[in-house]
Amino acid sequence: MCDKEIKQIRLLLSRRSVEVAKLLADIHWVAGTLQGHCSAGTMIFLETERLLFRTHEARDETDFVRMQTDSEVRRYMGGQGWPLEKAQHRFRTQYLDRPKRIYGLWATILKEDDRYIGSCGLRAGGKRGEAHLGYILAKPYWGRGLASEAAKAFINLAFTKLRLSRLLADVEQGHVVSQHILKRFGFKYGGREEIPQSGRVIFWYELTRAAWRL
Ligand SMILES: CC(C)(COP(=O)(O)OP(=O)(O)OC[C@H]1O[C@@H](n2cnc3c(N)ncnc32)[C@H](O)[C@@H]1OP(=O)(O)O)[C@@H](O)C(=O)NCCC(=O)NCCS
Repeated sequence: MCDKEIKQIRLLLSRRSVEVAKLLADIHWVAGTLQGHCSAGTMIFLETERLLFRTHEARDETDFVRMQTDSEVRRYMGGQGWPLEKAQHRFRTQYLDRPKRIYGLWATILKEDDRYIGSCGLRAGGKRGEAHLGYILAKPYWGRGLASEAAKAFINLAFTKLRLSRLLADVEQGHVVSQHILKRFGFKYGGREEIPQSGRVIFWYELTRAAWRL
């Protein structure tokens, strides 16, 4: 893990600025290379007890493709796994070396075995002060509270450091697990939309900063 380097950087910065040190207490803005653990250009964005969120690296491709071609994983995200070529193409064009800054889905790494297990994060919203919460994990890692741990970290980030006013989340009808997670964090049902071509029904949920504070 990159803990040693993070501690050293934190120490260096704490000498210069108490404020920056406080920020680093829960967000590790460590741009650049952390020798031995991360590739050049990788940013470790955020860390929780069991998870680390960083830029996607080439070594994540196999696990990313396995996850995205799994029909059970994509059951409520279009209904079927992506074909192999699509998963590879998406990884190389839309995930590799991304995100570069705050918004986008971050490679989610299980710290205990330094392995890619999914992608989680905030997508920039259409309106200022808003973002969409998103999470997808590979099946072997379901049911261990990891999505909840990731969701909690990004909700905290959204309403504290980023000072957003509202978070949104889309969930397909019938996806009781995702609905359960959102409700647990205080998200409220906001409305539904039917996708004409497929007939699939999407529910959207919202959480405002004011409601989150309660
Ligand atoms: C949805 C997903 C992210 C959940 O990840 P996870 O790590 O298994 O979730 P967690 O373990 O943090 O939480 C699951 C919660 O659902 C609850 N749950 C499980 N089965 C349930 C069911 N049938 N009905 C209601 N709640 C259920 C669990 O008890 C747990 O809640 P608790 O912590 O209050 O006990 C994961 O299944 C996934 O990646 N699915 C594929 C991609 C996807 O659908 N992404 C979301 C798109 S909206």
